[in-house]
Amino acid sequence: MKFHRQHAIVTGGSSGIGQATAKLLAREGAHISIVARDRAKLEQAKTEIEKLRINPQQRVIALSADVGDRVQVEAAIASANEQIGSPNILITSAGIAYPGYFQQLPIEIFEQTMAINYFGSLYTVRAVLPFMEQQQRGQIILISSGAGLIGIYGYTAYSPTKFALKGLAESLRGELKPLGIQVSIVYPPDTNTPQLEQENKTKPLETKMIAGTAQTWSAENVAREIVRGIEKKSFAIAPGLEMSLLEKLHSLLSPVLNWYFDRIVAKIRQ
Ligand SMILES: NC(=O)c1ccc[n+]([C@@H]2O[C@H](COP(=O)([O-])OP(=O)(O)OC[C@H]3O[C@@H](n4cnc5c(N)ncnc54)[C@H](OP(=O)(O)O)[C@@H]3O)[C@@H](O)[C@H]2O)c1
Repeated sequence: MKFHRQHAIVTGGSSGIGQATAKLLAREGAHISIVARDRAKLEQAKTEIEKLRINPQQRVIALSADVGDRVQVEAAIASANEQIGSPNILITSAGIAYPGYFQQLPIEIFEQTMAINYFGSLYTVRAVLPFMEQQQRGQIILISSGAGLIGIYGYTAYSPTKFALKGLAESLRGELKPLGIQVSIVYPPDTNTPQLEQENKTKPLETKMIAGTAQTWSAENVAREIVRGIEKKSFAIAPGLEMSLLEKLHSLLSPVLNWYFDRIVAKIRQ
Protein backbone atom coordinates (compact mmCIF):
# COMPACT_ATOMS: atom_id res chain seq x y z
CA MET A 1 0.00 0.00 0.00
CA LYS A 2 3.00 2.28 -0.49
CA PHE A 3 1.19 4.37 -3.12
CA HIS A 4 -2.27 4.29 -1.53
CA ARG A 5 -4.56 6.98 -3.01
CA GLN A 6 -1.77 8.42 -5.14
CA HIS A 7 -2.55 9.19 -8.77
CA ALA A 8 0.12 8.07 -11.24
CA ILE A 9 -0.02 9.15 -14.89
CA VAL A 10 2.05 6.90 -17.14
CA THR A 11 2.57 7.85 -20.79
CA GLY A 12 3.35 4.76 -22.83
CA GLY A 13 1.47 2.84 -20.13
CA SER A 14 -0.12 0.48 -22.66
CA SER A 15 3.08 -1.48 -23.31
CA GLY A 16 6.54 -2.52 -22.14
CA ILE A 17 8.28 -0.61 -19.35
CA GLY A 18 5.40 1.86 -18.89
CA GLN A 19 2.80 -0.87 -18.52
CA ALA A 20 4.98 -2.93 -16.15
CA THR A 21 5.51 0.16 -13.96
CA ALA A 22 1.80 1.02 -13.99
CA LYS A 23 1.04 -2.54 -12.87
CA LEU A 24 3.47 -2.38 -9.96
CA LEU A 25 2.04 0.96 -8.82
CA ALA A 26 -1.52 -0.45 -9.05
CA ARG A 27 -0.44 -3.36 -6.85
CA GLU A 28 0.74 -0.78 -4.32
CA GLY A 29 -2.64 0.96 -4.21
CA ALA A 30 -2.22 3.81 -6.75
CA HIS A 31 -4.89 5.18 -9.10
CA ILE A 32 -3.55 4.86 -12.64
CA SER A 33 -4.00 6.90 -15.83
CA ILE A 34 -2.30 5.46 -18.89
CA VAL A 35 -1.76 7.54 -22.02
CA ALA A 36 -0.86 6.19 -25.49
CA ARG A 37 -2.25 6.29 -29.05
CA ASP A 38 -3.67 2.87 -29.90
CA ARG A 39 -7.09 2.45 -28.25
CA ALA A 40 -7.20 -1.35 -28.48
CA LYS A 41 -3.80 -1.70 -26.76
CA LEU A 42 -4.91 0.86 -24.14
CA GLU A 43 -8.10 -1.05 -23.31
CA GLN A 44 -6.20 -4.35 -23.08
CA ALA A 45 -3.64 -2.80 -20.71
CA LYS A 46 -6.38 -1.12 -18.65
CA THR A 47 -8.08 -4.51 -18.12
CA GLU A 48 -4.79 -6.09 -17.07
CA ILE A 49 -3.93 -3.25 -14.67
CA GLU A 50 -7.44 -3.31 -13.16
CA LYS A 51 -6.97 -6.97 -12.23
CA LEU A 52 -4.06 -5.95 -9.98
CA ARG A 53 -5.97 -3.41 -7.89
CA ILE A 54 -5.88 -4.09 -4.19
CA ASN A 55 -9.03 -2.16 -3.32
CA PRO A 56 -12.25 -1.43 -5.23
CA GLN A 57 -11.84 2.36 -4.87
CA GLN A 58 -8.76 2.34 -7.06
CA ARG A 59 -9.42 3.91 -10.50
CA VAL A 60 -7.71 2.96 -13.76
CA ILE A 61 -8.34 5.08 -16.85
CA ALA A 62 -6.97 4.91 -20.38
CA LEU A 63 -6.56 8.05 -22.47
CA SER A 64 -5.75 8.08 -26.16
CA ALA A 65 -3.36 10.87 -27.15
CA ASP A 66 -0.29 11.40 -29.30
CA VAL A 67 2.33 12.87 -26.95
CA GLY A 68 3.95 14.58 -29.93
CA ASP A 69 0.86 16.80 -30.15
CA ARG A 70 0.82 19.38 -27.35
CA VAL A 71 -2.92 20.05 -27.56
CA GLN A 72 -3.73 16.34 -27.25
CA VAL A 73 -1.36 16.02 -24.27
CA GLU A 74 -2.95 18.96 -22.46
CA ALA A 75 -6.44 17.53 -23.07
CA ALA A 76 -5.41 14.06 -21.78
CA ILE A 77 -3.82 15.43 -18.60
CA ALA A 78 -6.81 17.71 -17.94
CA SER A 79 -9.11 14.71 -18.36
CA ALA A 80 -7.01 12.55 -16.00
CA ASN A 81 -7.11 15.34 -13.41
CA GLU A 82 -10.87 15.75 -13.82
CA GLN A 83 -11.61 12.03 -13.52
CA ILE A 84 -9.19 11.01 -10.76
CA GLY A 85 -7.76 14.18 -9.25
CA SER A 86 -4.44 15.94 -9.11
CA PRO A 87 -1.51 13.74 -10.27
CA ASN A 88 1.14 12.80 -7.67
CA ILE A 89 3.42 10.89 -10.04
CA LEU A 90 4.18 11.36 -13.73
CA ILE A 91 6.17 8.75 -15.66
CA THR A 92 6.98 9.65 -19.27
CA SER A 93 7.62 6.28 -20.88
CA ALA A 94 6.08 6.96 -24.34
CA GLY A 95 8.85 6.64 -26.87
CA ILE A 96 9.98 5.25 -30.19
CA ALA A 97 13.31 4.03 -31.60
CA TYR A 98 14.32 3.42 -35.21
CA PRO A 99 17.93 2.31 -35.44
CA GLY A 100 19.67 2.48 -38.82
CA TYR A 101 22.65 3.91 -40.69
CA PHE A 102 22.70 7.73 -40.46
CA GLN A 103 22.83 8.28 -44.23
CA GLN A 104 20.00 5.86 -44.87
CA LEU A 105 17.50 7.05 -42.25
CA PRO A 106 14.86 9.43 -43.68
CA ILE A 107 14.96 12.90 -42.11
CA GLU A 108 11.36 12.39 -40.93
CA ILE A 109 12.56 9.68 -38.53
CA PHE A 110 14.90 12.18 -36.80
CA GLU A 111 12.08 14.73 -36.58
CA GLN A 112 9.47 12.26 -35.36
CA THR A 113 11.77 10.70 -32.75
CA MET A 114 12.60 14.11 -31.26
CA ALA A 115 8.91 15.12 -31.39
CA ILE A 116 7.76 12.04 -29.46
CA ASN A 117 10.68 11.21 -27.14
CA TYR A 118 11.76 14.72 -26.19
CA PHE A 119 8.88 17.11 -26.87
CA GLY A 120 6.33 14.44 -25.91
CA SER A 121 7.94 14.26 -22.46
CA LEU A 122 8.32 18.04 -22.21
CA TYR A 123 4.66 18.71 -23.10
CA THR A 124 3.53 16.17 -20.48
CA VAL A 125 5.73 17.68 -17.77
CA ARG A 126 4.40 21.15 -18.55
CA ALA A 127 0.82 19.89 -18.50
CA VAL A 128 1.06 18.22 -15.04
CA LEU A 129 3.14 20.95 -13.44
CA PRO A 130 0.33 23.39 -12.52
CA PHE A 131 -1.49 20.59 -10.63
CA MET A 132 1.65 19.50 -8.79
CA GLU A 133 2.56 23.11 -8.02
CA GLN A 134 -0.84 23.64 -6.45
CA GLN A 135 -0.33 20.58 -4.22
CA GLN A 136 3.30 21.60 -3.54
CA ARG A 137 4.35 18.01 -4.10
CA GLY A 138 4.84 15.50 -6.89
CA GLN A 139 7.32 13.24 -8.63
CA ILE A 140 8.26 13.44 -12.29
CA ILE A 141 10.12 10.48 -13.76
CA LEU A 142 11.57 10.83 -17.26
CA ILE A 143 12.56 7.66 -19.11
CA SER A 144 15.85 8.14 -20.94
CA SER A 145 18.11 5.20 -21.94
CA GLY A 146 21.67 3.89 -21.74
CA ALA A 147 21.83 5.50 -25.20
CA GLY A 148 21.18 8.81 -23.41
CA LEU A 149 24.52 8.45 -21.60
CA ILE A 150 26.77 7.43 -24.50
CA GLY A 151 26.08 7.70 -28.23
CA ILE A 152 25.76 4.26 -29.78
CA TYR A 153 26.41 3.18 -33.38
CA GLY A 154 23.12 3.01 -35.33
CA TYR A 155 21.22 5.23 -32.87
CA THR A 156 21.77 8.67 -34.42
CA ALA A 157 18.02 9.35 -34.48
CA TYR A 158 17.39 8.03 -30.96
CA SER A 159 20.42 8.80 -28.74
CA PRO A 160 20.17 12.61 -29.09
CA THR A 161 16.52 12.54 -27.94
CA LYS A 162 17.54 10.65 -24.80
CA PHE A 163 20.54 12.97 -24.19
CA ALA A 164 18.06 15.86 -24.46
CA LEU A 165 15.96 14.32 -21.68
CA LYS A 166 19.07 14.08 -19.48
CA GLY A 167 19.68 17.80 -20.03
CA LEU A 168 16.06 18.58 -19.24
CA ALA A 169 16.05 16.49 -16.04
CA GLU A 170 19.33 17.96 -14.79
CA SER A 171 18.31 21.56 -15.38
CA LEU A 172 14.72 21.13 -14.20
CA ARG A 173 15.62 19.28 -10.98
CA GLY A 174 16.87 22.36 -9.13
CA GLU A 175 14.03 24.57 -10.37
CA LEU A 176 11.32 22.23 -9.12
CA LYS A 177 12.94 21.15 -5.86
CA PRO A 178 11.95 24.32 -3.95
CA LEU A 179 8.36 23.72 -5.12
CA GLY A 180 8.34 20.28 -3.47
CA ILE A 181 8.50 18.46 -6.81
CA GLN A 182 11.08 15.69 -7.27
CA VAL A 183 12.55 15.05 -10.74
CA SER A 184 14.10 11.68 -11.63
CA ILE A 185 15.62 10.24 -14.78
CA VAL A 186 15.80 6.55 -15.67
CA TYR A 187 18.47 4.92 -17.83
CA PRO A 188 17.04 1.49 -18.70
CA PRO A 189 19.31 -1.11 -20.27
CA ASP A 190 18.10 -3.17 -23.28
CA THR A 191 14.69 -4.43 -22.15
CA ASN A 192 12.57 -7.17 -23.65
CA THR A 193 9.55 -5.18 -24.95
CA PRO A 194 7.68 -4.72 -28.26
CA GLN A 195 9.97 -1.70 -28.94
CA LEU A 196 13.12 -3.82 -28.72
CA GLU A 197 11.52 -6.44 -30.98
CA GLN A 198 10.72 -3.70 -33.51
CA GLU A 199 14.24 -2.26 -33.24
CA ASN A 200 15.81 -5.62 -33.95
CA LYS A 201 14.15 -5.60 -37.39
CA THR A 202 16.11 -2.54 -38.58
CA LYS A 203 19.21 -2.65 -36.35
CA PRO A 204 22.49 -2.59 -38.31
CA LEU A 205 24.57 -5.72 -37.68
CA GLU A 206 27.20 -3.54 -35.95
CA THR A 207 24.56 -2.28 -33.48
CA LYS A 208 23.39 -5.83 -32.81
CA MET A 209 26.95 -6.94 -32.02
CA ILE A 210 27.56 -3.94 -29.74
CA ALA A 211 24.21 -4.41 -27.94
CA GLY A 212 24.89 -8.14 -27.69
CA THR A 213 27.69 -7.39 -25.21
CA ALA A 214 25.10 -6.29 -22.62
CA GLN A 215 22.41 -8.24 -20.78
CA THR A 216 18.73 -7.83 -21.79
CA TRP A 217 16.34 -7.14 -18.89
CA SER A 218 12.65 -7.94 -18.44
CA ALA A 219 10.22 -4.98 -18.31
CA GLU A 220 9.11 -6.19 -14.85
CA ASN A 221 12.64 -5.98 -13.43
CA VAL A 222 13.19 -2.51 -14.90
CA ALA A 223 9.81 -1.44 -13.46
CA ARG A 224 10.84 -2.74 -10.04
CA GLU A 225 13.96 -0.53 -10.14
CA ILE A 226 11.87 2.45 -11.22
CA VAL A 227 9.41 2.00 -8.36
CA ARG A 228 12.28 1.56 -5.89
CA GLY A 229 13.81 4.79 -7.24
CA ILE A 230 10.48 6.60 -6.82
CA GLU A 231 10.25 5.42 -3.20
CA LYS A 232 13.81 6.49 -2.47
CA LYS A 233 13.32 9.76 -4.40
CA SER A 234 16.52 9.03 -6.36
CA PHE A 235 17.47 11.52 -9.06
CA ALA A 236 19.20 9.01 -11.34
CA ILE A 237 17.71 5.53 -11.63
CA ALA A 238 20.14 3.22 -13.43
CA PRO A 239 19.05 -0.44 -13.26
CA GLY A 240 21.90 -2.96 -12.87
CA LEU A 241 25.67 -2.73 -12.58
CA GLU A 242 26.32 -1.85 -16.25
CA MET A 243 23.93 1.13 -16.23
CA SER A 244 25.08 2.24 -12.75
CA LEU A 245 28.71 2.33 -13.89
CA LEU A 246 27.76 4.04 -17.13
CA GLU A 247 25.66 6.64 -15.30
CA LYS A 248 28.45 7.48 -12.84
CA LEU A 249 31.47 7.14 -15.08
CA HIS A 250 30.29 7.67 -18.68
CA SER A 251 32.84 10.37 -19.54
CA LEU A 252 35.71 8.22 -18.23
CA LEU A 253 34.38 5.02 -19.79
CA SER A 254 33.45 6.33 -23.23
CA PRO A 255 37.01 6.33 -24.75
CA VAL A 256 37.44 2.68 -23.70
CA LEU A 257 33.96 1.72 -24.87
CA ASN A 258 34.44 3.54 -28.19
CA TRP A 259 37.75 1.70 -28.73
CA TYR A 260 35.96 -1.61 -28.03
CA PHE A 261 32.94 -0.78 -30.21
CA ASP A 262 35.20 0.39 -33.09
CA ARG A 263 36.94 -3.01 -32.98
CA ILE A 264 33.56 -4.75 -33.28
CA VAL A 265 32.62 -2.54 -36.24
CA ALA A 266 36.01 -3.08 -37.95
CA LYS A 267 35.68 -6.86 -37.56
CA ILE A 268 32.25 -6.81 -39.22
CA ARG A 269 33.49 -4.56 -42.05
CA GLN A 270 36.44 -6.88 -42.84
N1 LIG B 1 13.05 -1.50 -24.52
C1 LIG B 1 14.28 -1.03 -24.35
O1 LIG B 1 15.28 -1.76 -24.58
C2 LIG B 1 14.51 0.36 -23.82
C3 LIG B 1 15.81 0.69 -23.34
C4 LIG B 1 16.02 1.98 -22.87
C5 LIG B 1 15.00 2.91 -22.87
N2 LIG B 1 13.75 2.56 -23.34
C6 LIG B 1 12.71 3.60 -23.32
O2 LIG B 1 11.66 3.16 -22.47
C7 LIG B 1 10.43 3.73 -22.92
C8 LIG B 1 9.42 2.62 -23.10
O3 LIG B 1 9.88 1.74 -24.10
P1 LIG B 1 9.35 0.25 -24.25
O4 LIG B 1 10.49 -0.57 -24.66
O5 LIG B 1 8.54 -0.10 -23.09
O6 LIG B 1 8.44 0.45 -25.58
P2 LIG B 1 7.02 -0.13 -26.02
O7 LIG B 1 6.76 -1.44 -25.39
O8 LIG B 1 7.03 -0.04 -27.51
O9 LIG B 1 6.02 0.96 -25.42
C9 LIG B 1 6.02 2.26 -25.91
C10 LIG B 1 4.76 2.93 -25.42
O10 LIG B 1 4.78 4.28 -25.86
C11 LIG B 1 3.55 4.56 -26.54
N3 LIG B 1 3.81 5.58 -27.54
C12 LIG B 1 4.69 5.55 -28.57
N4 LIG B 1 4.60 6.66 -29.29
C13 LIG B 1 3.65 7.42 -28.70
C14 LIG B 1 3.07 8.68 -29.00
N5 LIG B 1 3.45 9.41 -30.06
N6 LIG B 1 2.10 9.16 -28.18
C15 LIG B 1 1.69 8.44 -27.10
N7 LIG B 1 2.19 7.25 -26.79
C16 LIG B 1 3.14 6.74 -27.59
C17 LIG B 1 3.13 3.21 -27.13
O11 LIG B 1 1.76 3.13 -27.43
P3 LIG B 1 1.15 3.56 -28.88
O12 LIG B 1 2.11 3.08 -29.92
O13 LIG B 1 -0.19 2.91 -28.94
O14 LIG B 1 1.04 5.04 -28.85
C18 LIG B 1 3.48 2.31 -25.97
O15 LIG B 1 2.50 2.36 -24.98
C19 LIG B 1 10.75 4.46 -24.23
O16 LIG B 1 10.91 5.83 -23.98
C20 LIG B 1 12.07 3.84 -24.66
O17 LIG B 1 12.81 4.69 -25.47
C21 LIG B 1 13.48 1.32 -23.80
